[in-house]
Amino acid sequence: MKRLATLTAADIQRVQASFDLMWPRSTEMADQFYARLFEIAPDSRALFRSDMTRMKDKFISTLAVLVGSLDNLTGLYAVAGKLAVDHTRYGVRPDHYAPVGEALLWSLGRQLAGFWNDDVEQSWRKVYAVISARMIGAAYPDHGPA
Ligand code: HEM
Repeated sequence: MKRLATLTAADIQRVQASFDLMWPRSTEMADQFYARLFEIAPDSRALFRSDMTRMKDKFISTLAVLVGSLDNLTGLYAVAGKLAVDHTRYGVRPDHYAPVGEALLWSLGRQLAGFWNDDVEQSWRKVYAVISARMIGAAYPDHGPA
């Protein structure tokens, strides 16, 4: 079984501080996130049927809730679990989570150019691993360990 990295206080601090820095540019970040996602996982494009401008706002504000809950894992798991179960209705599969993580890191890195470094990237990787493992575990109980 793949072991999940434990988040340290430094991981949480780096992710929250970098998210705050990115926040004024969240529209650009969301634009780049979806553009990148549809480039690396073209089959995911057809799953998005609603208005993309509203979708981008919802994605960023939910990401803000998750990032803000990193020091409260019980709350984070509750939000992430419900979100993932809702996602099964959109046709999302467990294997979609990896390209979404790559697109997320890529777009954050683009927006945070001067602040982005190996430590910040590794902390974001750990955070996305924790969130996506929880989402996959909650929504696809037969899938096995993420
Ligand atoms: C951290 C991970 C994720 C977050 C924070 C997130 C956030 C959201 C939110 C807030 C919504 C709107 C839900 C609503 O209106 O009730 C949504 C919808 C959706 N998400 Fe995600 N999501 C994540 C992962 C994924 C993944 C892995 C996929 C796979 C491609 C995905 C595809 C979709 C689709 C297809 C919709 C519905 C779009 C539509 O209505 O047109 N999401 N997501």
